[in-house]
Amino acid sequence: MSKIVILTGAGISAESGLGTFRDEGGLWAQHRIEDVATPEGFARNPNLVVDFYNARRAQAAEASPNAAHDALARLERHHKGEVLIVTQNVDDLHEKAGSQNVVHMHGALNSALCARCENRWPAPLRMAPGDACPSCAAPSARPDIVWFGEIPYQMERIEAALSRANIFAAVGTSGNVYPAAGFVQLARMTGARTVELNLEPSVTVSDFEETHFGKASETVPKWVDNLLR
Ligand code: OAD
Repeated sequence: MSKIVILTGAGISAESGLGTFRDEGGLWAQHRIEDVATPEGFARNPNLVVDFYNARRAQAAEASPNAAHDALARLERHHKGEVLIVTQNVDDLHEKAGSQNVVHMHGALNSALCARCENRWPAPLRMAPGDACPSCAAPSARPDIVWFGEIPYQMERIEAALSRANIFAAVGTSGNVYPAAGFVQLARMTGARTVELNLEPSVTVSDFEETHFGKASETVPKWVDNLLR
């Protein structure tokens, strides 16, 4: 039975009202990566970083999944093999749509992490720098987000799934950030069919055998319908 691994990026949540990073007017046009998405930025100005993620958490809490998230949840429900979503997104729109097999390789807005003992707990809507860890009581809470220079989560599980995949699809990601941008190569090495679904060609488009360009809310449901047919 076929195994499907789907990598998702900010583009899948764009039509739910959550901004992407590198599109015109995207998050990285408004904020410096070094300031809000690195351990050094957090050490320099924890208030700025915590506020940045507080604002994004509030936005994500208000957002609803769109037809693309819904279609991937439908694929997991009805496909007779395995479906794993590996998301670079820190929102919880896949879960809100009903997907259960989801890996958040870049962390999650709704989770807090203790920088001292690595305990995790549900993040309050507004975190504050110096919030105490409920386990070790150290004032070392931080957003549970993988920043630049840190290692993405669950890489072993992801690589194992890629090595067994029959189909690998990338949805709404520009292909600029590794290791995620290299997953297509890993999947190809073990013979998976590779598919890109994106608004426009990503920087790694030439690595994919099949491409569908357009809004995720249109391309993803059509692609899923075909797979389930
Ligand atoms: P990007 O902002 O780099 O890319 C978003 C992609 O989505 C682009 O290729 C757009 O063309 C596409 N897109 C936009 N609207 C779309 C729509 N309606 N339907 C389909 N596609 C659409 O976001 P990511 O590739 O996810 O990491 O960025 C990867 C990582 O870089 C993020 O996880 C984040 C960021 O820095 C960290 O913060 C660690």
